[in-house]
Amino acid sequence: FFNIISLIKYLLLKKMKIFYPIILSIICFISPLDNGVGLTPPMGWNSWNKFGCSINEKLIMSTIDTIVSSGLAKAGYTYVNIDDCWQKTRDSNGKIQPNPDFFPNGMKVLADYAHEKGLKFGLYSDAGYSTCCNLPGSLGYEEIDAKTYEEWGIDYLKYDNCNTDGTAPEVRYPVMRDALLKINRTIYYSMCEWGINSPAKWGKEVANSWRNTGDIEDNWKSMLTIIDANNYWADYAGPGGWNDPDMLEVGNGGMTYEEYKVHFGLWCLSKAPLLIGCDITNMSDETLEILTNEEVIAINQDSLGVQGKKLESVDGKEVWGGPLSNNAFVVMLLNRGDSTAEIEANFEKIGLKSGEYIVRDLWERKDLGVFTESFKEKVKSHSGVLVKLSPK
Ligand code: GLA
Repeated sequence: FFNIISLIKYLLLKKMKIFYPIILSIICFISPLDNGVGLTPPMGWNSWNKFGCSINEKLIMSTIDTIVSSGLAKAGYTYVNIDDCWQKTRDSNGKIQPNPDFFPNGMKVLADYAHEKGLKFGLYSDAGYSTCCNLPGSLGYEEIDAKTYEEWGIDYLKYDNCNTDGTAPEVRYPVMRDALLKINRTIYYSMCEWGINSPAKWGKEVANSWRNTGDIEDNWKSMLTIIDANNYWADYAGPGGWNDPDMLEVGNGGMTYEEYKVHFGLWCLSKAPLLIGCDITNMSDETLEILTNEEVIAINQDSLGVQGKKLESVDGKEVWGGPLSNNAFVVMLLNRGDSTAEIEANFEKIGLKSGEYIVRDLWERKDLGVFTESFKEKVKSHSGVLVKLSPK
């Protein structure tokens, strides 16, 4: 069966390029990656948004300590992921070597440290000759790198798309997938080709998540542009394979408290990977409060795994939402405009079954009453009201 699928894929990729988006979608449906991880969106921390290349062993160890001591681990954040710039070179056998100036004890020590604390540990590489910061990539070294990840105890791989040989991502990304499937360790595979070749269409067969856009910036405009682009692909996400609108900026200082709540709420209802991107060893109480609201996180981790969508949009007044398990529904009334506005979610229009719903404000953590036809509120500029509707 798998040989037949491989043959079809080969013919499509090499000989019938024009048809492959359609047929790859069908193949994704019949043969998803199915590696047993990512059944709900992954939660954790990644070094890039705050630290870029200024990373070292001490930072990673204190981040691991803080994830546990701050309550983030208890809230569900388990992956500690190092992004670009941990690598330096390859040895004479082709084995990748961490930068000894910043990681003198190597990666296994860090992975072991994370595991001792009940966490998981992730690394970054690139489906090209070198990474976006011009350090060794994995193209041509997929099997040897996968074996190294097994030896070190890696649990998550973010795989970037810089400095490639020009072949399509659909051809390069499965090579690392196959290498990871051959080792004796399950690794969450995060594809980062920035949405170039519509990865939502073929990602489920290859990876546990796929970026749909370029890099997020720590401001309101960038955050909304990215989630709008990600929204386009909502129907392709589900347990085991998620759309990835990039990592969180909550706590990095470029948005207000209310804007960060919108950012986190949209990522949660969009079933996005929740990878914290701030310095958690030095975060404010407000940042921690946003990141650990268990009722908002529960929207992201809901077992139904349906990505919420933009349901209505008029002059910056928007209704976002989607179904949850137990016939519940999440709704965000989002005001993108410059002044306070009343925003209404009409139950019939947003696709809810008729009936009585208990509406609960997730940020305020309080029930607002029972509603039958619609729910509306005055929403301040650049903020959102996030509610869960449960059948009475
Ligand atoms: C790309 C990715 C980012 C980050 C950097 C590292 O830009 O999209 O998320 O990993 O590379 O160089």
